[in-house]
Amino acid sequence: MQASNNGKGTSGTIGQPITYEKIPTQIFADSKEASYAVAKEISDLIRQKQKEGKPCVLGLATGSSPKTVYAILVRMHREEGLSFKNVISFNLDEYYQMEPDSIYSYHRFMKEQLFDHVDIPKENYFLPDGTVPAALLRDYCMSYENKINAVGGLDFQLLGIGGNGHIGFNEPGSLINSHTRLITLDHSTRAAASMEFGGLHNVPRKAITLGVAPILNARRIVLLAWGERKASVIKSAVEGPVTELNPASYLQAHADVSFVVDESAASELTRIKTPWAVDSVIWDNKMIKKAVTHLSQTLKKPILKLTDKDYNDNGMSDLLAQYGAGYEININVFNQLQHTITGWPGGKPNADDTHRPERAQPAKKRVLIFSPHPDDDIISMGGTFQRLVDQGHEVHVAYQTSGNIAVADDEALRFIDFVVDFNNGFAIDSPNATKLFQDAKDFLRHTKNSEIDTPEVRKVKGLVRRGEAKATCRFVGIPTSQAHFLDMPFYETGTVQKKPIGEEDIKIIENLIEEVKPHQIYAAGDFADPHGTHKVCWDAIEAALQRSKHKNFMKDCWVWLYRGAWAEWDIYEIEMAVPMSPDQVLKKRQGIFKHQSQKDGVVFQGEDSREFWQRAEERNRGTAQLYDSLGLAEYEAMEAFVRWKF
Ligand code: F6R
Repeated sequence: MQASNNGKGTSGTIGQPITYEKIPTQIFADSKEASYAVAKEISDLIRQKQKEGKPCVLGLATGSSPKTVYAILVRMHREEGLSFKNVISFNLDEYYQMEPDSIYSYHRFMKEQLFDHVDIPKENYFLPDGTVPAALLRDYCMSYENKINAVGGLDFQLLGIGGNGHIGFNEPGSLINSHTRLITLDHSTRAAASMEFGGLHNVPRKAITLGVAPILNARRIVLLAWGERKASVIKSAVEGPVTELNPASYLQAHADVSFVVDESAASELTRIKTPWAVDSVIWDNKMIKKAVTHLSQTLKKPILKLTDKDYNDNGMSDLLAQYGAGYEININVFNQLQHTITGWPGGKPNADDTHRPERAQPAKKRVLIFSPHPDDDIISMGGTFQRLVDQGHEVHVAYQTSGNIAVADDEALRFIDFVVDFNNGFAIDSPNATKLFQDAKDFLRHTKNSEIDTPEVRKVKGLVRRGEAKATCRFVGIPTSQAHFLDMPFYETGTVQKKPIGEEDIKIIENLIEEVKPHQIYAAGDFADPHGTHKVCWDAIEAALQRSKHKNFMKDCWVWLYRGAWAEWDIYEIEMAVPMSPDQVLKKRQGIFKHQSQKDGVVFQGEDSREFWQRAEERNRGTAQLYDSLGLAEYEAMEAFVRWKF
């Protein structure tokens, strides 16, 4: 592993790849594979210490990143006899003020994810106490660190990383020699946690965290990061300068640290983003498209204006040598991009489709759009949905989950009131309904934020969202008989934490595919958040497709993936780009507005304060601007898709 100080990379020995990375970083295909490698390292260490008759002192993290590591350790305990009797553990942090048995506490998290399922003695695990009176905090924090030192220091520290670079809750600005203390949480940290807490206002403002100094004292450190939203902070921690603005960059100074990341979190690293700038690459079509579009964007020059010198000056001389002239490469990539643009997402009838993304035949297709939540169809592909309907295809939409946890209590109350008034107003005698709704009303009036909704309240919230999805379908112009509400069981826990997908979930999808026999399937290929609903929904679709792929009708079925909340496909990946006129953009906005419960003050706003219609428009405009800047036609907005092949 080579390190460089100037952020420009080091050239090393002749023939060796250049490295920009100052922290050893292992990239895995997905978070599961990566978590397995980390769990294996931890279990090997525990066993090694057992052999030596010594305790194994672990520093542990919470958050979404280490969950699978803990799940694998629990499985190793159950199935492989891995004992935790010699483990002593210290967690990084706890919210302040926080009762240990609150559903939001890290105490509870650790018990649920690990401690309650393994044989670690109760007296061997420690977490900062979120109830210590303010006046005693200084001494308390010192004693927490002393306890770690008294057992010989941390053998192994597991870390996650915040989107702002925090490790533990050492927010930007924390010093390298900082000790365990009470800190004020960054706004971005609170926003990221707002999902779990059901709204920003419920997230504590403070936390106790192990300082940077005791973290760096651990003999071995492994930091985990999954998903695109961690990509830029990983790049700056690994390749950028050491700075208090990104506390994870302090880890560059540690002698035995590894970052373990999945492909999405690695996507901004130089060796992934511009591999030709690091080592020689195989110039297949995808790599050429990636490099040329990158070159064009970096130089802010349309593709057809790139010169031989541009190729030579930017580490692409071997590609140029292969082709002979830059202009040949330009034309090739330009044409490929040109061929992705179509106003006929279902195929253009009676047209030569050699260079079109979709087949002309059959002219009228059956289309099945999978929407993980009740509004993803219109948010992510509303323009395409509308075109498919307008162009005469038989469009079905499958709403995979009820989306019920994202409805605010007062929104549910409003609808309950309406039903009661409706019944009274029309003299409808429905004692059952009145009682049901009365109970729900009482529950919501008295509920605390920490309580899980009753099944009745969840049902009401689900119906609110179902009504909105139906309104969108009417607006776009499909009969509600073509709207399928799947209410997949994995989602129905009433909390952010979902069950794993099961046979039931897959069967529901498989049956619907069999019923519709689609020529086209659209699905959310949004894998940015490995624990998110979109990914789970896709896993169920993929499992169902694998089972159905041998059926006759499936031979005629193409699958297109759209992107959900976080980001658009990279330009070089896009295989179909559907343009929208200014009017079509406005119409899509109206369609998104049908989802009133998701408009103002939504429960799961996350880190992005824009409303969903704004996010969608900015993204679609961004894609169109990108095509324009590469020298292709200038549209108002575009939706983008990638084809998934069996
Ligand atoms: C948790 C902790 C934090 C998290 C970080 C990433 O104990 O100390 O630093 O590791 O906020 O959180 P996730 O993994 O949820 O993205």
